Amino acid sequence: MTDSATPADLPPFPAEGDLGNVLITEEQIQTRVAELGIELARKHQGHTPLFVAVMKGSVIFAADLLRAYAGPVEFDVMIVSSYGDSLETSGVVKIVKDLDTSANGRHVVLVEDIVDTGLTMQYLLKHFEQQGAASVSVCSLLVREGRSSEPVVHHVGFEIPHDFVIGYGLDAAQIFRNLPYIGVFTGTVDGH
Ligand code: IMP
Repeated sequence: MTDSATPADLPPFPAEGDLGNVLITEEQIQTRVAELGIELARKHQGHTPLFVAVMKGSVIFAADLLRAYAGPVEFDVMIVSSYGDSLETSGVVKIVKDLDTSANGRHVVLVEDIVDTGLTMQYLLKHFEQQGAASVSVCSLLVREGRSSEPVVHHVGFEIPHDFVIGYGLDAAQIFRNLPYIGVFTGTVDGH
């Protein structure tokens, strides 16, 4: 499957063979993100939460979620690495870039692209508890169905099956983050 919107003078993107079916359309994402923004604004009424985007996968989700949040909010980013360039979790979570500000006494909202094993979120929840956060909520666009990860996610966009997915911030070997939808990756990472 290729994107029919690609202009004729450019090669099709994604290339033939890289994309299976589109799991969640751009429109479905935008509708759900608007709902999540309202849900989070209601929850934090009377406070100024600190949204923490877990880079790089949540970059596009966080940008849209912030704009869907009707209320005062602060924003920071963390860079966390657990997968490297492989499609399997390495099981090791590493903080590559920490927050610029202190989380002490703050209502932290962790903005994540996908929670799979839940290892990354479990690690970050503990990290922010140790920093003295007043509360920590996890808002993930996607969670993997049937994984033990679900209890660590307080606000879920969509549950998805076990396929490896790309788009709307999610990558395969750092490529495909710019697709406006979520699709199943059917290519190999070697070619990039
Ligand atoms: P967890 O620690 O197993 O929950 O892994 C979460 C992280 O793994 C996410 O933030 C993503 O960066 C990455 N990840 C897990 N599944 C996928 C996928 O299907 N596509 C792209 N990245 C994924």
